[in-house]
Amino acid sequence: MSTLDTRDAASKVLLEYAKNHEKNDNSITTDGGNPVGQKEASLTVGSLGPILLQDTVLIDELAHFSRERIPERVVHAKGAAAFGKFIVTHDITQYTDACVFATIGSETSIVVRFSQVAGERGYPDTYRDLRGFAIKFNTNDGIWDLVGNNSPIFFVNDAINFPMFIHALKRNPVTNVRPDYDAFWDFVSLRPESTHQTLQLFTDRGIPASYRKMHGYGANTFSFINAAGKFHYCKFHFKCQQGIENLSQSEADRLAGLDPDYYARDLYNAIHNGDFPSWDMHVQIMTPEQAATYSYNPFDNSKVWLHKDFPLIPVGRITLDQNPTNYFAEVEQLAFDVSHVIPGIDFSPDRMLQGRIFNYGDTQRYRLGINGTQLPVNEPFKLHNYNRDGQSILKSQGGAPNYFPNSFRGPKNNIRARALQPKIPLNGLVDRIDNGFDDNYSQASLLWRRVLKDDERHRTIENMLNWLRQTNRVIALRAIENFANVDQALGARLREGLDKQVKLPAHVSL
Ligand code: HEM
Repeated sequence: MSTLDTRDAASKVLLEYAKNHEKNDNSITTDGGNPVGQKEASLTVGSLGPILLQDTVLIDELAHFSRERIPERVVHAKGAAAFGKFIVTHDITQYTDACVFATIGSETSIVVRFSQVAGERGYPDTYRDLRGFAIKFNTNDGIWDLVGNNSPIFFVNDAINFPMFIHALKRNPVTNVRPDYDAFWDFVSLRPESTHQTLQLFTDRGIPASYRKMHGYGANTFSFINAAGKFHYCKFHFKCQQGIENLSQSEADRLAGLDPDYYARDLYNAIHNGDFPSWDMHVQIMTPEQAATYSYNPFDNSKVWLHKDFPLIPVGRITLDQNPTNYFAEVEQLAFDVSHVIPGIDFSPDRMLQGRIFNYGDTQRYRLGINGTQLPVNEPFKLHNYNRDGQSILKSQGGAPNYFPNSFRGPKNNIRARALQPKIPLNGLVDRIDNGFDDNYSQASLLWRRVLKDDERHRTIENMLNWLRQTNRVIALRAIENFANVDQALGARLREGLDKQVKLPAHVSL
């Protein structure tokens, strides 16, 4: 056995390729398919002369090379994905007529992409951050993209605050250094709805041991419509079957230097070795009447629906059993669009969700082009409509009529989809109403007092202090005020930790 053979599966894909292509005798071609006679030398005038413009092999290669990158995702740029299936284990047809849940035992092919939120494509996997958990279901009614995180809540609860929060997390515009602790603590201390998610970020769950060892959550509120047209609100949960495991800050820091792609490697190796990760899907269900009277705004994604009020209902299982065969084609070009829902599943007035319905398709039209939905990894089983042409189209739908209505057997309205469209009476005054100052502390208090054990509370405080010590005192104290509203003792311990153990940066008046 060569030394190379002792490495993990993710390090040996080239060896695997060679093994599987022993009979490979393809010759190199240009992008035009023309055979290349000599790849290692440009076409020059003698051995000392300049290169000729007619060196089509060189031009073909340089032109392609300088166009290799597409814009990376503006958030969630670093990630890894795998293919698999969703199997229905329980009947929820009383709530939804969505084809994906129609029959117990039925299978739907899926692809799941896990990611970090704030870092770029090369960022270390083990940085403290939320993790993305996005699932594409390829159903008979088209694509259903459920784009969630490993957290049931989020920092802000109105789409208009999302880009500002992300700016505060990203690189400083002067130094290009990240994180900018002043920006982070300034933003979250000024927007108290972020308190619940910020607190959770500093618990052990802020750094999962791998993508396989964390739960997933749809987080936003969606709706279900059943065959009789009855409508419920719902939330999606994915319970990790591998067991939750997290990394200590010091272990995460060590791995960030040693193996920045630690999670990607772990996922690839596990699947390659037949250790297929799975998650059980559950839903929470709320009637419109309950939504009208619930003690929390059910459309505010900085809060959960308490499980005691809305218990988890089991639905099915997702399992990942196949690695991508090419990262760029199948992961970088993978596009989850929150606006992709199927009949039986619909939206809610959740302000974050409303913004997301627009934003994903919009960014993907920029990132992948107008026909990105036709790339093999994104394409639905069926595509029949009146959209045509555009850059890099794969299927322009042949000779089918390109206008509607028509008398020539072009695709028609779908009666079932129409019936499953929720009919929601709406009224109210058009206004801009800041919802960031509702009760932001009682659920965070439950997390702090009831969910976390003493030792985890201790680590959470240490983790918070690690970051708080790196901002100035005014901002740190303002941030601590929010945590004191969660729990007086938590506030006091943070204040004490800040004063005792740090040489504070010079006071900056704001
Ligand atoms: C209004 C709020 C939000 C906006 C405007 C927004 C916007 C975006 C954008 C522009 C992308 C890049 C998509 C791409 O290039 O394909 C993205 C990716 C993502 N977002 Fe959001 N986002 C929001 C909130 C959320 C929330 C609340 C969650 C989780 C519950 C979430 C989860 C994700 C995930 C997992 C991805 C990565 C998808 C992938 O793997 O390709 N986002 N978001």
